[in-house]
Amino acid sequence: MKVKTVFRCRDCGGSAPRWVGRCPVCGEWNTLVEELDGRAASGAVTVVGPRSSPVPISDVDEGDWSRFPTGVAELDRVLDGGLVPGSVTLLGGEPGIGKSTLLLQVLAALAGRGRRCLLVSGEESTHQVRLRAARLGALRPKLWLLAETVLAHVLAAVGDVTPDLLVVDSIQTMSDPEVDSAPGSVAQVRACAATLVQVAKQRGLAIVLVGHVTKEGTLAGPRVLEHVVDTVLSFEGDRHHGLRLLRAVKHRFGSTAELGVFEMGDDGLHDVADPSGLFLDDRRPGVPGSAVVPAAEGARPLLVEVQALVASTSLAMPRRTVQGVDGARLALVLAVLERRCHVKLAALDVYASAAGGVRLVEPGTDLALALALASSASDRALPPDVVACGEIGLGGEVRQVSQLGRRLAEAARLGFRRAVVPASAPTPPDGLQLLRVGTLAEAVDGLNLTPLVQ
Ligand code: TYD
Ligand code: MG
Repeated sequence: MKVKTVFRCRDCGGSAPRWVGRCPVCGEWNTLVEELDGRAASGAVTVVGPRSSPVPISDVDEGDWSRFPTGVAELDRVLDGGLVPGSVTLLGGEPGIGKSTLLLQVLAALAGRGRRCLLVSGEESTHQVRLRAARLGALRPKLWLLAETVLAHVLAAVGDVTPDLLVVDSIQTMSDPEVDSAPGSVAQVRACAATLVQVAKQRGLAIVLVGHVTKEGTLAGPRVLEHVVDTVLSFEGDRHHGLRLLRAVKHRFGSTAELGVFEMGDDGLHDVADPSGLFLDDRRPGVPGSAVVPAAEGARPLLVEVQALVASTSLAMPRRTVQGVDGARLALVLAVLERRCHVKLAALDVYASAAGGVRLVEPGTDLALALALASSASDRALPPDVVACGEIGLGGEVRQVSQLGRRLAEAARLGFRRAVVPASAPTPPDGLQLLRVGTLAEAVDGLNLTPLVQ
Protein backbone atom coordinates (compact mmCIF):
# COMPACT_ATOMS: atom_id res chain seq x y z
CA MET A 1 0.00 0.00 0.00
CA LYS A 2 1.28 3.41 -0.89
CA VAL A 3 1.96 5.56 2.15
CA LYS A 4 -0.02 8.76 1.89
CA THR A 5 1.79 11.95 2.63
CA VAL A 6 0.67 15.47 3.20
CA PHE A 7 2.52 18.78 3.20
CA ARG A 8 2.19 20.54 6.50
CA CYS A 9 3.05 24.10 7.47
CA ARG A 10 5.71 24.30 10.19
CA ASP A 11 4.21 27.57 11.27
CA CYS A 12 0.47 27.18 11.53
CA GLY A 13 -0.09 23.45 11.07
CA GLY A 14 -2.18 23.97 7.91
CA SER A 15 -1.86 21.37 5.18
CA ALA A 16 -1.81 21.07 1.42
CA PRO A 17 -2.02 17.91 -0.73
CA ARG A 18 1.06 18.87 -2.75
CA TRP A 19 4.05 21.08 -2.17
CA VAL A 20 3.49 24.75 -2.76
CA GLY A 21 5.80 27.62 -1.98
CA ARG A 22 3.29 29.45 0.17
CA CYS A 23 1.12 27.98 2.91
CA PRO A 24 -2.50 28.21 1.76
CA VAL A 25 -3.65 28.71 5.36
CA CYS A 26 -1.36 31.31 6.90
CA GLY A 27 0.30 32.65 3.76
CA GLU A 28 3.89 32.14 5.02
CA TRP A 29 6.51 31.26 2.43
CA ASN A 30 8.59 28.07 2.44
CA THR A 31 7.07 26.55 5.52
CA LEU A 32 5.57 23.37 4.04
CA VAL A 33 7.25 20.07 4.86
CA GLU A 34 6.24 16.57 3.82
CA GLU A 35 4.74 14.39 6.52
CA LEU A 36 2.94 11.08 6.72
CA ASP A 37 -0.77 11.46 6.58
CA GLY A 38 -3.04 9.63 8.96
CA ARG A 39 -4.46 10.15 12.38
CA ALA A 40 -1.28 9.55 14.32
CA ALA A 41 0.75 11.74 12.01
CA SER A 42 -1.77 14.52 12.09
CA GLY A 43 -1.06 14.85 15.77
CA ALA A 44 -4.69 14.48 16.70
CA VAL A 45 -4.83 12.98 20.15
CA THR A 46 -7.97 11.09 20.89
CA VAL A 47 -8.48 10.04 24.43
CA VAL A 48 -11.55 8.13 25.44
CA GLY A 49 -11.80 8.34 29.20
CA PRO A 50 -14.68 8.03 31.63
CA ARG A 51 -17.64 10.20 30.69
CA SER A 52 -17.85 13.38 32.72
CA SER A 53 -21.17 14.92 33.66
CA PRO A 54 -22.15 18.58 33.66
CA VAL A 55 -22.16 20.35 37.05
CA PRO A 56 -23.59 23.72 38.06
CA ILE A 57 -20.79 26.24 37.74
CA SER A 58 -20.97 27.30 41.39
CA ASP A 59 -20.54 23.68 42.51
CA VAL A 60 -17.23 23.27 40.70
CA ASP A 61 -14.48 22.66 43.21
CA GLU A 62 -12.14 25.66 43.28
CA GLY A 63 -9.35 23.44 44.49
CA ASP A 64 -6.19 24.71 46.06
CA TRP A 65 -4.81 25.94 42.78
CA SER A 66 -3.88 29.42 43.70
CA ARG A 67 -0.98 30.84 41.75
CA PHE A 68 2.47 30.78 43.23
CA PRO A 69 5.04 33.51 42.61
CA THR A 70 8.11 32.28 40.78
CA GLY A 71 10.42 34.52 42.76
CA VAL A 72 11.64 36.28 39.60
CA ALA A 73 9.87 39.61 39.99
CA GLU A 74 9.68 40.65 36.35
CA LEU A 75 8.30 37.25 35.32
CA ASP A 76 5.70 37.43 38.09
CA ARG A 77 4.71 40.86 36.85
CA VAL A 78 4.08 39.49 33.36
CA LEU A 79 2.25 36.46 34.72
CA ASP A 80 0.08 38.72 36.87
CA GLY A 81 1.25 37.13 40.11
CA GLY A 82 2.90 33.83 39.25
CA LEU A 83 2.38 30.37 37.83
CA VAL A 84 -0.92 28.58 38.21
CA PRO A 85 -0.81 24.88 39.16
CA GLY A 86 -2.26 22.77 36.36
CA SER A 87 -1.40 25.37 33.73
CA VAL A 88 0.89 25.12 30.74
CA THR A 89 3.00 28.08 29.67
CA LEU A 90 4.89 28.35 26.43
CA LEU A 91 8.02 30.50 26.50
CA GLY A 92 8.97 31.46 22.96
CA GLY A 93 12.01 33.30 21.76
CA GLU A 94 14.90 33.19 19.34
CA PRO A 95 17.79 30.84 20.04
CA GLY A 96 20.34 32.45 22.35
CA ILE A 97 17.99 35.08 23.73
CA GLY A 98 18.11 33.59 27.25
CA LYS A 99 15.13 31.26 27.66
CA SER A 100 17.12 28.48 29.31
CA THR A 101 18.86 30.99 31.55
CA LEU A 102 15.60 32.58 32.67
CA LEU A 103 13.98 29.24 33.42
CA LEU A 104 16.99 27.93 35.31
CA GLN A 105 16.79 31.03 37.50
CA VAL A 106 13.06 30.45 38.03
CA LEU A 107 13.67 26.81 38.94
CA ALA A 108 16.44 27.77 41.33
CA ALA A 109 14.26 30.41 42.99
CA LEU A 110 11.36 28.00 43.41
CA ALA A 111 13.50 25.05 44.51
CA GLY A 112 15.17 27.37 46.99
CA ARG A 113 11.76 27.99 48.54
CA GLY A 114 10.99 24.32 48.93
CA ARG A 115 9.09 23.63 45.68
CA ARG A 116 9.98 20.44 43.86
CA CYS A 117 11.20 21.21 40.37
CA LEU A 118 12.14 19.09 37.38
CA LEU A 119 14.09 20.40 34.41
CA VAL A 120 14.00 18.24 31.30
CA SER A 121 16.64 19.25 28.82
CA GLY A 122 16.44 17.87 25.33
CA GLU A 123 19.15 20.15 24.04
CA GLU A 124 21.90 20.19 26.60
CA SER A 125 23.53 17.38 28.59
CA THR A 126 23.12 17.28 32.36
CA HIS A 127 26.77 18.24 32.57
CA GLN A 128 26.24 21.39 30.51
CA VAL A 129 23.20 22.37 32.53
CA ARG A 130 25.06 21.80 35.77
CA LEU A 131 27.87 24.07 34.64
CA ARG A 132 25.44 26.82 33.84
CA ALA A 133 23.52 26.23 37.07
CA ALA A 134 26.74 26.54 39.06
CA ARG A 135 27.41 29.87 37.38
CA LEU A 136 23.91 31.08 38.19
CA GLY A 137 23.98 29.78 41.75
CA ALA A 138 21.18 27.37 40.95
CA LEU A 139 22.50 24.17 42.54
CA ARG A 140 19.53 23.33 44.76
CA PRO A 141 18.69 19.94 46.25
CA LYS A 142 15.05 20.16 45.18
CA LEU A 143 15.92 20.77 41.53
CA TRP A 144 16.01 17.55 39.54
CA LEU A 145 17.59 17.34 36.13
CA LEU A 146 16.87 14.97 33.25
CA ALA A 147 18.46 14.97 29.80
CA GLU A 148 15.78 13.26 27.73
CA THR A 149 13.90 13.58 24.49
CA VAL A 150 11.44 10.68 24.69
CA LEU A 151 8.12 11.86 26.05
CA ALA A 152 7.25 8.59 27.82
CA HIS A 153 10.49 8.78 29.80
CA VAL A 154 9.73 12.35 30.76
CA LEU A 155 6.31 11.31 32.02
CA ALA A 156 7.89 8.48 34.02
CA ALA A 157 10.28 10.99 35.59
CA VAL A 158 7.34 13.23 36.47
CA GLY A 159 5.84 10.21 38.28
CA ASP A 160 9.10 9.66 40.18
CA VAL A 161 9.88 13.24 41.14
CA THR A 162 6.27 14.53 41.53
CA PRO A 163 7.39 18.10 40.85
CA ASP A 164 5.39 21.29 41.37
CA LEU A 165 6.98 22.74 38.26
CA LEU A 166 8.16 20.92 35.16
CA VAL A 167 10.24 22.74 32.55
CA VAL A 168 10.67 21.14 29.13
CA ASP A 169 13.52 22.73 27.16
CA SER A 170 12.52 22.59 24.34
CA ILE A 171 9.22 21.19 23.11
CA GLN A 172 10.73 20.85 19.62
CA THR A 173 13.20 18.22 20.87
CA MET A 174 10.54 15.99 22.46
CA SER A 175 9.19 13.02 20.59
CA ASP A 176 6.58 10.36 21.04
CA PRO A 177 7.57 7.18 19.16
CA GLU A 178 3.89 6.39 18.63
CA VAL A 179 3.56 9.42 16.42
CA ASP A 180 4.85 8.54 13.00
CA SER A 181 6.70 11.74 12.35
CA ALA A 182 10.15 13.25 12.89
CA PRO A 183 10.98 15.13 16.10
CA GLY A 184 10.35 18.82 15.66
CA SER A 185 7.59 18.24 13.11
CA VAL A 186 4.21 19.83 13.62
CA ALA A 187 2.65 16.46 14.41
CA GLN A 188 5.24 15.61 17.09
CA VAL A 189 5.21 19.04 18.70
CA ARG A 190 1.44 19.02 18.85
CA ALA A 191 1.11 15.46 20.14
CA CYS A 192 3.76 15.93 22.85
CA ALA A 193 2.25 19.23 23.98
CA ALA A 194 -1.27 17.77 24.06
CA THR A 195 -0.07 14.94 26.30
CA LEU A 196 1.76 17.35 28.59
CA VAL A 197 -1.32 19.57 28.85
CA GLN A 198 -3.33 16.57 30.03
CA VAL A 199 -0.67 15.64 32.57
CA ALA A 200 -0.62 19.20 33.88
CA LYS A 201 -4.39 19.25 34.37
CA GLN A 202 -4.53 15.80 35.96
CA ARG A 203 -1.70 16.39 38.41
CA GLY A 204 -2.17 20.07 39.11
CA LEU A 205 1.38 20.50 37.92
CA ALA A 206 2.63 23.73 36.37
CA ILE A 207 4.52 23.16 33.14
CA VAL A 208 6.65 25.57 31.17
CA LEU A 209 7.54 24.59 27.61
CA VAL A 210 10.34 26.30 25.74
CA GLY A 211 9.65 26.93 22.05
CA HIS A 212 12.21 28.28 19.63
CA VAL A 213 11.18 31.00 17.28
CA THR A 214 12.88 31.07 13.94
CA LYS A 215 11.21 33.92 12.14
CA GLU A 216 10.23 37.45 13.12
CA GLY A 217 7.41 37.20 15.58
CA THR A 218 6.26 33.68 14.88
CA LEU A 219 6.85 30.56 16.90
CA ALA A 220 8.01 27.95 14.42
CA GLY A 221 6.07 24.82 15.16
CA PRO A 222 4.98 26.05 18.57
CA ARG A 223 2.72 28.59 16.98
CA VAL A 224 0.44 25.65 16.40
CA LEU A 225 0.41 25.31 20.21
CA GLU A 226 -0.84 28.76 21.04
CA HIS A 227 -4.41 27.59 21.47
CA VAL A 228 -3.46 24.44 23.40
CA VAL A 229 -1.54 26.15 26.17
CA ASP A 230 -2.85 28.56 28.81
CA THR A 231 -0.18 31.19 28.50
CA VAL A 232 2.16 32.21 25.73
CA LEU A 233 5.15 34.32 26.70
CA SER A 234 7.48 35.89 24.23
CA PHE A 235 11.07 36.68 25.16
CA GLU A 236 12.56 39.33 22.97
CA GLY A 237 15.42 41.71 22.69
CA ASP A 238 18.43 42.49 20.71
CA ARG A 239 20.90 39.66 21.19
CA HIS A 240 23.72 42.15 20.86
CA HIS A 241 22.46 44.26 23.72
CA GLY A 242 21.89 43.20 27.28
CA LEU A 243 18.24 44.19 27.48
CA ARG A 244 15.56 41.51 27.29
CA LEU A 245 11.83 42.08 27.19
CA LEU A 246 9.25 39.56 28.27
CA ARG A 247 5.60 39.90 27.33
CA ALA A 248 2.51 37.75 27.48
CA VAL A 249 0.93 37.17 24.10
CA LYS A 250 -1.87 35.16 25.65
CA HIS A 251 -2.70 34.65 29.31
CA ARG A 252 -5.74 32.78 30.55
CA PHE A 253 -5.21 33.88 34.14
CA GLY A 254 -4.63 37.58 33.87
CA SER A 255 -3.83 40.60 31.82
CA THR A 256 -1.40 40.54 28.89
CA ALA A 257 -0.57 44.19 29.25
CA GLU A 258 2.53 43.99 31.41
CA LEU A 259 6.05 44.08 30.13
CA GLY A 260 8.93 42.44 31.98
CA VAL A 261 12.37 43.94 31.55
CA PHE A 262 15.62 42.11 32.26
CA GLU A 263 19.25 42.80 31.74
CA MET A 264 21.56 39.92 30.82
CA GLY A 265 24.76 39.97 32.82
CA ASP A 266 27.65 37.60 33.38
CA ASP A 267 25.73 35.94 36.15
CA GLY A 268 22.37 35.60 34.40
CA LEU A 269 19.34 37.80 34.02
CA HIS A 270 18.61 40.64 36.41
CA ASP A 271 15.25 42.30 36.97
CA VAL A 272 15.09 45.89 35.84
CA ALA A 273 12.60 47.42 38.21
CA ASP A 274 12.70 50.97 36.84
CA PRO A 275 13.18 50.68 33.10
CA SER A 276 11.59 53.91 31.95
CA GLY A 277 14.80 55.77 31.20
CA LEU A 278 16.86 52.76 30.17
CA PHE A 279 16.23 53.03 26.47
CA LEU A 280 17.52 56.57 26.31
CA ASP A 281 21.03 55.80 27.53
CA ASP A 282 22.69 55.84 24.10
CA ARG A 283 20.71 58.73 22.70
CA ARG A 284 22.59 61.55 21.02
CA PRO A 285 20.33 64.58 21.36
CA GLY A 286 20.57 67.14 18.61
CA VAL A 287 20.77 64.61 15.76
CA PRO A 288 18.06 65.00 13.09
CA GLY A 289 15.70 62.03 12.76
CA SER A 290 15.27 61.31 16.45
CA ALA A 291 12.17 61.75 18.62
CA VAL A 292 11.30 60.41 22.05
CA VAL A 293 7.95 58.84 22.82
CA PRO A 294 6.62 58.02 26.28
CA ALA A 295 5.29 54.60 25.29
CA ALA A 296 2.81 52.79 27.53
CA GLU A 297 3.72 49.20 28.26
CA GLY A 298 1.44 47.84 30.95
CA ALA A 299 1.48 49.89 34.11
CA ARG A 300 4.89 51.37 33.42
CA PRO A 301 5.53 54.00 30.78
CA LEU A 302 8.82 53.58 28.91
CA LEU A 303 10.59 56.42 27.20
CA VAL A 304 11.84 55.19 23.88
CA GLU A 305 13.79 56.91 21.15
CA VAL A 306 12.28 56.53 17.69
CA GLN A 307 14.80 57.04 14.92
CA ALA A 308 14.22 57.71 11.27
CA LEU A 309 16.51 58.19 8.34
CA VAL A 310 15.46 59.22 4.86
CA ALA A 311 18.00 58.95 2.10
CA SER A 312 18.06 59.29 -1.66
CA THR A 313 17.91 56.01 -3.53
CA SER A 314 18.79 54.50 -6.85
CA LEU A 315 16.02 51.95 -6.52
CA ALA A 316 12.87 52.18 -8.60
CA MET A 317 10.98 51.05 -5.53
CA PRO A 318 12.45 52.89 -2.55
CA ARG A 319 13.20 50.87 0.53
CA ARG A 320 10.99 50.88 3.63
CA THR A 321 12.93 49.26 6.42
CA VAL A 322 11.62 49.01 9.98
CA GLN A 323 13.03 47.65 13.19
CA GLY A 324 10.89 47.64 16.29
CA VAL A 325 8.34 49.85 14.52
CA ASP A 326 5.23 48.53 12.82
CA GLY A 327 5.57 48.56 9.02
CA ALA A 328 1.87 49.26 8.49
CA ARG A 329 1.96 52.25 10.85
CA LEU A 330 5.04 53.58 9.05
CA ALA A 331 3.16 53.37 5.73
CA LEU A 332 0.22 55.28 7.22
CA VAL A 333 2.42 57.96 8.74
CA LEU A 334 4.31 58.39 5.45
CA ALA A 335 1.05 58.79 3.54
CA VAL A 336 -0.24 61.39 6.00
CA LEU A 337 3.06 63.31 5.92
CA GLU A 338 2.94 63.34 2.14
CA ARG A 339 -0.69 64.31 1.70
CA ARG A 340 -1.38 66.51 4.72
CA CYS A 341 1.98 68.06 5.53
CA HIS A 342 3.73 68.29 2.16
CA VAL A 343 6.67 66.27 3.38
CA LYS A 344 7.48 64.28 0.24
CA LEU A 345 9.16 60.98 0.97
CA ALA A 346 7.72 58.73 -1.73
CA ALA A 347 10.91 58.71 -3.81
CA LEU A 348 13.28 58.26 -0.88
CA ASP A 349 14.50 55.28 1.09
CA VAL A 350 13.03 55.33 4.58
CA TYR A 351 14.45 53.57 7.62
CA ALA A 352 12.66 53.67 10.96
CA SER A 353 13.61 52.00 14.20
CA ALA A 354 12.95 51.95 17.90
CA ALA A 355 16.21 52.06 19.83
CA GLY A 356 17.27 49.39 22.32
CA GLY A 357 15.44 46.39 20.82
CA VAL A 358 11.99 47.57 21.95
CA ARG A 359 9.02 46.79 19.74
CA LEU A 360 6.59 49.69 19.52
CA VAL A 361 3.19 48.54 18.37
CA GLU A 362 0.80 50.98 20.00
CA PRO A 363 -0.66 53.87 17.96
CA GLY A 364 0.60 56.40 20.52
CA THR A 365 3.97 56.11 18.77
CA ASP A 366 2.67 57.63 15.51
CA LEU A 367 3.38 61.24 16.34
CA ALA A 368 6.97 60.64 17.43
CA LEU A 369 7.56 58.53 14.32
CA ALA A 370 6.12 61.25 12.09
CA LEU A 371 8.24 63.93 13.76
CA ALA A 372 11.37 61.78 13.49
CA LEU A 373 10.69 61.36 9.77
CA ALA A 374 10.01 65.07 9.26
CA SER A 375 13.14 65.88 11.26
CA SER A 376 15.27 63.63 9.07
CA ALA A 377 13.68 64.98 5.89
CA SER A 378 14.31 68.59 6.93
CA ASP A 379 17.68 67.78 8.49
CA ARG A 380 16.69 69.72 11.56
CA ALA A 381 16.83 68.14 14.99
CA LEU A 382 14.04 68.24 17.53
CA PRO A 383 14.93 70.05 20.75
CA PRO A 384 16.48 67.49 23.13
CA ASP A 385 13.95 68.12 25.89
CA VAL A 386 10.85 67.31 23.81
CA VAL A 387 8.72 64.18 23.85
CA ALA A 388 5.82 63.47 21.50
CA CYS A 389 2.84 61.23 21.94
CA GLY A 390 -0.36 60.82 19.95
CA GLU A 391 -2.12 58.70 17.39
CA ILE A 392 -2.36 60.00 13.84
CA GLY A 393 -5.58 59.62 11.87
CA LEU A 394 -5.90 59.46 8.11
CA GLY A 395 -7.19 63.03 8.07
CA GLY A 396 -3.90 64.18 9.58
CA GLU A 397 -5.51 64.76 12.97
CA VAL A 398 -3.66 63.94 16.18
CA ARG A 399 -5.70 61.82 18.55
CA GLN A 400 -5.82 61.09 22.23
CA VAL A 401 -4.05 57.99 23.52
CA SER A 402 -4.51 55.95 26.69
CA GLN A 403 -2.73 56.84 29.94
CA LEU A 404 -1.42 60.15 28.64
CA GLY A 405 -1.26 61.63 32.14
CA ARG A 406 0.95 58.80 33.37
CA ARG A 407 3.17 59.00 30.32
CA LEU A 408 3.69 62.73 30.72
CA ALA A 409 4.44 62.39 34.41
CA GLU A 410 7.17 59.88 33.59
CA ALA A 411 8.61 62.15 30.88
CA ALA A 412 8.71 65.01 33.39
CA ARG A 413 10.37 62.77 35.98
CA LEU A 414 13.13 61.95 33.51
CA GLY A 415 13.84 65.60 32.83
CA PHE A 416 11.88 66.35 29.66
CA ARG A 417 10.47 69.86 29.63
CA ARG A 418 8.14 69.96 26.64
CA ALA A 419 5.64 67.56 25.12
CA VAL A 420 3.83 67.56 21.79
CA VAL A 421 0.40 66.12 22.53
CA PRO A 422 -3.18 65.99 21.17
CA ALA A 423 -5.27 69.10 21.81
CA SER A 424 -7.41 67.26 24.36
CA ALA A 425 -4.46 66.24 26.55
CA PRO A 426 -4.92 66.50 30.34
CA THR A 427 -3.25 69.20 32.44
CA PRO A 428 0.47 68.48 32.46
CA PRO A 429 2.57 67.74 35.54
CA ASP A 430 4.65 70.57 36.98
CA GLY A 431 7.61 71.53 34.88
CA LEU A 432 6.26 70.13 31.63
CA GLN A 433 5.06 72.56 29.00
CA LEU A 434 2.58 71.24 26.44
CA LEU A 435 2.44 71.99 22.75
CA ARG A 436 -1.14 71.01 22.01
CA VAL A 437 -1.72 70.17 18.36
CA GLY A 438 -4.89 69.32 16.46
CA THR A 439 -3.10 68.06 13.38
CA LEU A 440 0.24 66.63 12.39
CA ALA A 441 0.83 69.65 10.16
CA GLU A 442 0.58 71.92 13.23
CA ALA A 443 3.15 69.79 15.03
CA VAL A 444 5.54 69.79 12.06
CA ASP A 445 5.18 73.58 11.70
CA GLY A 446 5.33 74.21 15.43
CA LEU A 447 8.68 72.43 15.64
CA ASN A 448 9.90 74.09 12.46
CA LEU A 449 10.40 70.79 10.65
CA THR A 450 8.84 71.62 7.29
CA PRO A 451 11.50 70.77 4.69
CA LEU A 452 12.79 73.87 2.91
CA VAL A 453 13.30 72.40 -0.53
CA GLN A 454 10.65 70.06 -1.83
P1 TYD B 1 20.32 30.76 26.70
O1 TYD B 1 19.56 30.82 27.97
O2 TYD B 1 21.11 29.52 26.44
O3 TYD B 1 19.40 31.06 25.44
P2 TYD B 1 18.21 30.17 24.82
O4 TYD B 1 17.88 29.11 25.78
O5 TYD B 1 17.12 31.17 24.60
O6 TYD B 1 18.73 29.65 23.52
O7 TYD B 1 21.25 32.03 26.71
C1 TYD B 1 22.30 32.08 25.86
C2 TYD B 1 23.02 33.39 25.87
O8 TYD B 1 23.01 34.09 27.09
C3 TYD B 1 24.43 33.11 25.53
O9 TYD B 1 24.74 33.85 24.37
C4 TYD B 1 25.22 33.54 26.69
C5 TYD B 1 24.32 34.47 27.44
N1 TYD B 1 24.51 34.40 28.88
C6 TYD B 1 25.02 35.48 29.55
O10 TYD B 1 25.35 36.51 28.95
N2 TYD B 1 25.16 35.43 30.92
C7 TYD B 1 24.83 34.33 31.62
O11 TYD B 1 24.97 34.31 32.86
C8 TYD B 1 24.31 33.20 30.92
C9 TYD B 1 23.95 31.94 31.65
C10 TYD B 1 24.16 33.27 29.56
MG1 MG C 1 18.17 27.06 25.47
